[in-house]
Amino acid sequence: MSRSYRDALSCFATGVTVVTARHEASDWGMTCNSFSSVSLEPRLVLWSLRQNASSRAAFVNSGGYTVSILSGQQEALARQFSSGEMAQRFAGVDAERLDSGRLKIGASSAWFDCSLVRVIAAGDHDILLGEVKNFGWTPAEPLIFAQSQFLPVRQLAAPS
Ligand SMILES: Cc1cc2nc3c(=O)[nH]c(=O)nc-3n(C[C@H](O)[C@H](O)[C@H](O)COP(=O)(O)O)c2cc1C
Repeated sequence: MSRSYRDALSCFATGVTVVTARHEASDWGMTCNSFSSVSLEPRLVLWSLRQNASSRAAFVNSGGYTVSILSGQQEALARQFSSGEMAQRFAGVDAERLDSGRLKIGASSAWFDCSLVRVIAAGDHDILLGEVKNFGWTPAEPLIFAQSQFLPVRQLAAPS
């Protein structure tokens, strides 16, 4: 992919999430900004997963995923969950195990616990369509990612 194309895409500001799975008695997690809401009724969401990610089998075969929307205070977690061994990614992380068996990140802005509905092959990624089974949110300001930089949302707001 050309640098110019990536730069153009990076002008679309997004939130930042950590998606987790529980597969064969192990926790899996990765930073993800392709999360999006699809349908309100039923509650459907999606994100796209790089096909050669080491965690692909866990996310595709474990029946569901949990999305934690990171807060403006959690930039370090966004970096921690974007590379390295899985055990290291979760080391020292405040996380809570849900009834689904998956972990949600503590003090996140919001979270969505989802059953995997469909996997749609799409070029070098898979689209993972999920149905939201449980969710929660807090007033914590979300973390924003744009032009390859992290920033808390309030830095975007003009003071008035
Ligand atoms: C801000 C940010 C957003 C990301 N979004 C995605 C994404 O939506 N889908 C994806 O497959 N990888 C995404 N990544 C990259 C993954 O986090 C990274 O490739 C993955 O954790 C590597 O783990 P692996 O060992 O499973 O390959 C993103 C990384 C960052 C820093």
